[in-house]
Amino acid sequence: MSIWRTKPVSAFEADMKKSDLKRVLTRWGLTSLGIGAIIGGGIFTLTGIAAHDFAGPALALSFVIAGIGCLFASLCYAEFASVLPVEGSAYAYAYGTVGELFAWFIGWNLILEYMMGATTVAVAWSGYFCKFLHLFHIDIPVYLCNDLATATEKCLAAGLAAPGFAFNLPAFLITWVVTAILIKGIKEAASTNNVIVIVKIAVVLFVIVVGAFYINTDNWTPFIPDKVTSIGEDGKEIVKFGFGGVLTAATIVFFAYIGFDAVSTQAGEAINPKKDVPFAIIASLVICTVLYILVSLVLTGMVRYDQLDKAAPVASAFSGIGINWAVFIITLAATAGLTSVMLVMMLGQTRIFLGMAKDGLLPKGMFGTLHPKFKTPYRSTILVGAIVSIVGAVTPIGKISEMCSMGTLLAFAMVCVAVMMLRYKKPELERPYRTPAVYLVGCLGVGFNIFLMCFVRPETWVAFMIWGGIGIAVYFLYSRRNSNLHNQ
Ligand code: ALA
Repeated sequence: MSIWRTKPVSAFEADMKKSDLKRVLTRWGLTSLGIGAIIGGGIFTLTGIAAHDFAGPALALSFVIAGIGCLFASLCYAEFASVLPVEGSAYAYAYGTVGELFAWFIGWNLILEYMMGATTVAVAWSGYFCKFLHLFHIDIPVYLCNDLATATEKCLAAGLAAPGFAFNLPAFLITWVVTAILIKGIKEAASTNNVIVIVKIAVVLFVIVVGAFYINTDNWTPFIPDKVTSIGEDGKEIVKFGFGGVLTAATIVFFAYIGFDAVSTQAGEAINPKKDVPFAIIASLVICTVLYILVSLVLTGMVRYDQLDKAAPVASAFSGIGINWAVFIITLAATAGLTSVMLVMMLGQTRIFLGMAKDGLLPKGMFGTLHPKFKTPYRSTILVGAIVSIVGAVTPIGKISEMCSMGTLLAFAMVCVAVMMLRYKKPELERPYRTPAVYLVGCLGVGFNIFLMCFVRPETWVAFMIWGGIGIAVYFLYSRRNSNLHNQ
């Protein structure tokens, strides 16, 4: 049946030879792109709610759990990237192993990961930017820096009348700045990213080193607060703390790890992709995991978990101990840091579209045409910019981030399945990097990611199913008939 047809590895190799993308990325350049995509809203924002409401000082444990799960997926990604160093990432891996419809479905979910990931971060960027301006007593009206639902909630909470209209202008504008950099070229994007990554790591190290002097070890006791059960506004039971709370916090901070796989979408621009992409995937994840665990220990040591600020926990921890200049630096670095996450996420999205267009599953004119001078897929970059900017301007952050996590979890699980299938079906392929204990790591990766999907809210599952249904319809109406494999 044609939905099971797979693209031969030789066809991937032929595509790579024909590629017009410039090969400029080194091993550490790729690692920097990975870190650029990983460190962002997760550590600067979500740690607050995860510790305050669910894990307490055991936030570090939540980071360990989420990090181990991502490590399984990253080891599988690394083997694939060494066999098929092409820009389509998980989509291409599934196409080479499981079959066309599965590959399409993965690609469709990667849109959630990359495009919704960039959108989530655009909204988080707007929040930090407004906070930064506020330090200088400049306040943008609520209806110009939030979507309508959030603006209404904020106004009502402050006892003001609800606005009739709202538009998140900073989120909209930053998306177009990032779009312009991406059209100009990968080299410009990588250089911008490198500068931001240095700033971002410096600030995270600053938080760890300076914050360590202000740790009060009493704040770490009890390490896992006792379980508390309450009924939410929607009448549903909410479990906080206890080991269940630590697991819920792990699903929240999972978002903080999203991005290590974005390195695999840059394989087409790597100088030595077969070795450097696997290295960069694992290195960026390991570096960020260590930093995250240390930051969470420091934060919960500096401030008692129930006093942590949910909106800007890292910056507020420093204002709490009276180091106000640190608040300025952290807010500035977080604003810059979030820009690089957007940069890499939107870059990844256009490269996945490019891979799909080359295979005929998406229109080549829109998604596969490179700019004559800049050699970047400018039309799809503009389309991605338009969608991210508009969705980010009008949608609450929670809804977008859950869709992002959902798409990512499924893509990770699928890659773990596909790497085991490739090992079984084509053991003879040259593998510069081999996943250790592949069947064990692959099964653990699938189990972990599916397990985390079970914790996502039912509303998100419904939206996810609708998105999946649309994807399957597009496949049967367009992609199946236009696929290169169909027309050969
Ligand atoms: N990991 C990225 C972040 O935390 C998506 O912003």
